[in-house]
Amino acid sequence: MASKLWEKSTTVDHDVESYTVGRDREMDLYLAPYDVLGSLAHIKMLQSIGLLSAEELDTLTGELRGIYEIIGKGEFKIEDDIEDVHSQVELMLTRRLGDTGKKIHSGRSRNDQVLVDLKLFIRSRIEDVTKAMTRLFDTLLEQSERYKDVLLPGYTHLQVAMPSSFGLWFGAYAESLADDLTVMRAAYEITNRNPLGSAAGYGSSFPLNRTMTTNLLGFDSMDYNVVYAQMGRGKTERIVAQALSSIAATVGKLAYDACLFNSQNFGFIKLPDEFTTGSSIMPHKKNPDVFELTRAKCNKLQALPFEITLITNNLPSGYFRDLQLVKENFVPAFDDIIAILDMVTAMVSQIKVNRSIVDDDRYRLMFSVEEVNRLTLEGMPFRDAYKKVGLDIEEGKFNAVKEVHHTHEGSIGNLCNDKIKALYDKTLAGFNFETYHRAFAALLGKN
Ligand code: ARG
Repeated sequence: MASKLWEKSTTVDHDVESYTVGRDREMDLYLAPYDVLGSLAHIKMLQSIGLLSAEELDTLTGELRGIYEIIGKGEFKIEDDIEDVHSQVELMLTRRLGDTGKKIHSGRSRNDQVLVDLKLFIRSRIEDVTKAMTRLFDTLLEQSERYKDVLLPGYTHLQVAMPSSFGLWFGAYAESLADDLTVMRAAYEITNRNPLGSAAGYGSSFPLNRTMTTNLLGFDSMDYNVVYAQMGRGKTERIVAQALSSIAATVGKLAYDACLFNSQNFGFIKLPDEFTTGSSIMPHKKNPDVFELTRAKCNKLQALPFEITLITNNLPSGYFRDLQLVKENFVPAFDDIIAILDMVTAMVSQIKVNRSIVDDDRYRLMFSVEEVNRLTLEGMPFRDAYKKVGLDIEEGKFNAVKEVHHTHEGSIGNLCNDKIKALYDKTLAGFNFETYHRAFAALLGKN
């Protein structure tokens, strides 16, 4: 028996086979449950247009649900001489059901199969990422509230500038994540459209009911134009990678701040001992390796959209095997960002802050603007007040009052954390993951 779906009379050279398959079997294992779900929707639709009988649909549905369970138990394997997950599932069906198994591929191609698998995989991984983001978001806001009265120097050019606070510092990263979630929401919307039915990239002469598979799989709508549906391969991954990259940029910046603030020369925060590492030669060292690796991992993630761009760049429309390689870079990125988010959440929840930073006189000049503003409020024109305080500083006569009175929205005394939370929650509710959970439960007969 030929071992490739497409093999007819010539057999494929072994080296060519391992070159073209590469690590694809490994990547396809991540897609396996979604391949089965896609097939469950496809056969239901095939039956509705007369390409399968009701009995055939029943048998195939039962068999596919069985394969889904095997995958869930971690017992699904792509056999050595089987090219990919799509071939493996079809082979399992034909082995058990003969001709009925061979009917399942009417009106589709592996090109739209892998497209739909990826969209379903991405949709569920985005849900996992948003959960990890929410854990970090909540922790940051808690810490912001807990330490809202503790001042620390704010810097511009890494020069002591004006008073800031831990309320502002933690809260800033929470708000940054709220914006990253908005970017992710847009990426989710693009992901949540059904490419199934585009077949090899040019549709089919069977009267496919694409609206039906769109609903069965819990998609918002479809990628209508079949040529565009195929163009979504690589594009969807790139857009989602950009969203992941946005989170990585936020977390990488936080990690760098934390390394800096933890250094003895700053001494603003203390990382819990269990989260630092020692030196093999210097007995006193407690290094912030976790945040350093976080920084590097976040930088690597920010390379991902560029990697995908370069793999897919300059391809004309239509399917090309080049697209397969995107999986190797893209698929593991979700586990990476989730691990980063979880580790940083644990760190942030245990950071100890120094409550007496401003007692140190090296930071006293950051209160100069407070004094300028105080004089201005008393009636002195701002420019004169600025000059007076400047001259006082030069002459060593400036007397820092280490207090702040900031009341406007988003400032030290009025963090607006409730507004930031409302923004985040509104975006999160827009994902509406429940729709696809309900659709999957129905396909699997679990409702
Ligand atoms: N492994 C392939 C991919 O990821 C599946 C699609 C194969 N299609 C083809 N025309 N060779 O793109």
